[in-house]
Amino acid sequence: MILALSKFSSVRIGDPEKVDRILNAMRKAGPNTVQVISDFDMTLTRFAFNGKRCPTCHNILDNSKLISEECKEQLKELLNTYYPIEIDSTRSVEDKLPFMVEWWTKAHNLMVQQKIKKDLLATAVKESDAMLRDGYKGLFDHLKEQNIPLLVFSAGIGDVLEEVIRQAGVFYPNVKVISNYMDFDETGTLQAFKGELIHTYNKREGALLNTGLFEELNDRHNVLLMGDSLGDLNMADGVQNMDNILKIGYLNDKVDAWMETYLNSYDIVLVKDETMEVPNAILHYITGSQ
Ligand code: TMP
Ligand code: MG
Repeated sequence: MILALSKFSSVRIGDPEKVDRILNAMRKAGPNTVQVISDFDMTLTRFAFNGKRCPTCHNILDNSKLISEECKEQLKELLNTYYPIEIDSTRSVEDKLPFMVEWWTKAHNLMVQQKIKKDLLATAVKESDAMLRDGYKGLFDHLKEQNIPLLVFSAGIGDVLEEVIRQAGVFYPNVKVISNYMDFDETGTLQAFKGELIHTYNKREGALLNTGLFEELNDRHNVLLMGDSLGDLNMADGVQNMDNILKIGYLNDKVDAWMETYLNSYDIVLVKDETMEVPNAILHYITGSQ
């Protein structure tokens, strides 16, 4: 399998023996023991298409008709201020935490002020440039066929990402979501966001708050984790009695600055890869369908 993976030009592996060991242990244990936990923005969705950045859940709304021009400017200013901090390789996660809380809080407050209507979300998604990565259908279909649960764990917006997955025709019953959900009043107008805020770097806390969801998956001790940020590494922290975890990381931006850290954190690093080819190949191997 390692040999097969090395044929993909995007693949970098720090410890091939470890990856080989994990893959074979998972394959031996079988599909009934496996669950997939994946980030959404820039992991299930594309980072760029034809040289142009693709939108995150938040950006889908930022760019839509649901937001006034003035508010668009304010949201863009937030993005320009805080995204460089999010991906700054010279700052520690601890140092970034308050900035992430600030970003999400300010962005959500602006969205609430815009009185977004629930029934217009689907149109905003339809008219957006959001794109799931090439090969997404193979991934979702294969997981459904094999009865493998897929937990989408996102610091984006639950209502928006559900709509992206629904419009792509792959929101199957085995797909569960942990994210920031909108709270609408009786007229269907956004009035707040529900529950504890999830941002890029507090997914561990989010996982521990949602242990109920993980309990449903108690007999699945083998995890395939997919993410693009270092914060995504904690998405499986709610899983009890883990046997094996294979972490696949998309390295989309600032490749040189992050390469070493990603190689030390993720088992398999995918460099500027806009497809699901590698996760699909791995899943087919684990489930014995190749
Ligand atoms: P995630 O991919 O870890 O779930 O994180 C969500 C992404 O959303 C993260 O990369 C930052 C991005 N984001 C925006 O693009 N606009 C915003 O207003 C906010 C709060 C986050
Ligand atoms: Mg992401």
